[in-house]
Parts: sequence; C-alpha cells; structure tokens
Amino acid sequence: MSTSGAAPAPLLTEAELKLLQALIYQECGMHFDERRTHFLHDRLLRRLKECRVDSFYSYYRLLISPAGKDELGRLLENLTVNETSFFRHKAQLDLFQKHVLEEIFRQKSARREYSVRIWSAGCSTGQEPYTLAMLVADALAYYYLRNPLPVELPLPKPLIPPPWKVEILASDINYTVLRTGQEGSYSENQMSMVDFGYRLRYFDKVGERYAVKKALKEIVHFDFHNLKTEYLPQRNDVIFCRNVMMYFDEAEQKRLVEKFYRCLNAHGHLFVGHAESLLGLTSKFQMLHKDSGTAYQRIEVRA
Ligand SMILES: C[S@@+](CC[C@H](N)C(=O)[O-])C[C@H]1O[C@@H](n2cnc3c(N)ncnc32)[C@H](O)[C@@H]1O
Repeated sequence: MSTSGAAPAPLLTEAELKLLQALIYQECGMHFDERRTHFLHDRLLRRLKECRVDSFYSYYRLLISPAGKDELGRLLENLTVNETSFFRHKAQLDLFQKHVLEEIFRQKSARREYSVRIWSAGCSTGQEPYTLAMLVADALAYYYLRNPLPVELPLPKPLIPPPWKVEILASDINYTVLRTGQEGSYSENQMSMVDFGYRLRYFDKVGERYAVKKALKEIVHFDFHNLKTEYLPQRNDVIFCRNVMMYFDEAEQKRLVEKFYRCLNAHGHLFVGHAESLLGLTSKFQMLHKDSGTAYQRIEVRA
C-alpha cells in the first residue's frame, strides 16, 4: 500500500493506446511502433499529470475537443526528437556545396536568374539551416573568385553578392525549437563541430555563447510548417529533410516524398538523413552519390 498519498499512475489500455496513436499519426505523421511505445507512454503520462487528468481516455477526449487544441500542440512538441548539430554528415554537405550549389550557380547565372531558395524541413534548433547558410555564402564567394563580377562590390562586401538573393526557409512543427533557432545563440558544446574559421566569420562571442551574425541571420527565415499538411512551401531549389522521415511509417514517407517532388523546382535536389533512403518510396528521383554523400535529384517527365 502506498504511504505517500500520491494517486497511482493511470493504466494505459490497448484501446486507449490505439486511439492516441491514431490521433498523433493523423496530426503529424509520427508513427510509434512497439519499439517506441515506452517513450510515447512516458510522454503521455507527463502531459496527463500536467493537465491533472485522471485517465488516458479523458486526456484523449480533451485533445479532440476545441478546448484541447493548445494541449495537442504541447503534446506533439513533447513527442518530437530534436537532436541536431552544426555540419551534420559532412560528406553529404560537401556534395551539396561542391556539386549541387556549383551547378545551381552555373545554370542560374546562364539564365540570369539570380535567386536560390533552400528549405530545411524539420530544422529543429537551427544548426542545420545556419550550416546551409554558411555553405551557400562561402560557395557564392568562391564562385565569384573564379568568375569575377563585372562590377566592383561596395565595401564592406555584402555576404551575398548582388544581384543574388538567397533565401533559406527553416521550418518545424515545434514552436520551442523554432524560437531557439530564431535567437541563434549556441553554447560551446553545441559549437563543437564548427571550426575556428566559421566561428570567426559567422559568429560573435557574447559572454560564454556564440551568436549568429546579423548578416547570416538575415538569410534564414524560421516558420511553422507541419509536414503532414498538403500545403507546403513551393519553388525550392533544394530541400533538406534529414532525420525526420525516420519517425514516419512507409505510407506517410511516400506521401511526403511525393509532396517534396511538387515543392521542388525542375531538376531540384532532396537530401534525406544518413540512415534514410528513398529506395522503394518513389521512382521520381535519381540518386547521386559522391564520396559517401547522397542526394536525390528530381527526374523531369518529358512532355
Ligand atoms: C531529429 S530532428 C532533425 C533536425 C535536423 N534536420 C538534423 O538532421 O539535424 C527532427 C525534427 O523534425 C521535426 N518534425 C517531426 N515531425 C514533424 C512534422 N510533422 N512536421 C514538421 N517537423 C516535424 C521535429 O520537431 C524535430 O525538430
């Protein structure tokens, strides 16, 4: 018998688990199989206690009620895994910078179309989109070192040489990580993958932390987007969606890859996580592989 006076934790029945799993899947595409049921149970229990609800069924009823909309958002935030780092999977980033970007600059310059749009879908706390911003800024500078512009640039030289316009959209389903990304302030620990050259050029030291410089911040825009929804940002040259699809089941992965196809410009590129692949999900992309980095390029259908 409990002597502490605390009420025993409510039991999660099979039926309640199924209802909650289905609701979460319908809302954000996350799929909790047997290996992740323990994690789901733990997070649900935390929210139950916070809301002072005494059964999983009552909690489910709250979530589907109009009054439970905010709580549903909080639950989803508690279920996301936000692990990330700067310069994650270097070989893939080399492929992006040295081959994909180079080709984009070359082709767009020839067409006199000077805008590049990159989307980091499932950006977590911002390390991925800021990494992409640093890589694009350096790649453009290097491109113009070899192909000088006909005009003198004003001093100090802008991060993105005109007439180019670079836009990096960073989106996530979790408002808390989006706020952290927008602040752009990182601890020494979080900076472990950022070498001193990048630190010097793109960060200011503020106390113990590193703050992303204003010029770099200006090309990254953080916004809420749920990848489960149909209407997603269009006209991207490149989409990075790494370590997100692995939490979806195969049916949802197929739907997402189909949506990404439509969100990309012709011949656009999609980068997925190291442990993820498009194999068996689509025949609309061709795989590019270089020095252990992989990307997928949109295949264009001839009219
Ligand atoms: C493991 S992090 C990956 C971060 C970064 N892409 C990387 O690879 O380092 C996965 C991110 O996907 C987000 N996410 C999960 N489901 C999502 C959905 N349905 N829509 C948008 N973002 C989602 C999570 O909130 C989380 O921040």
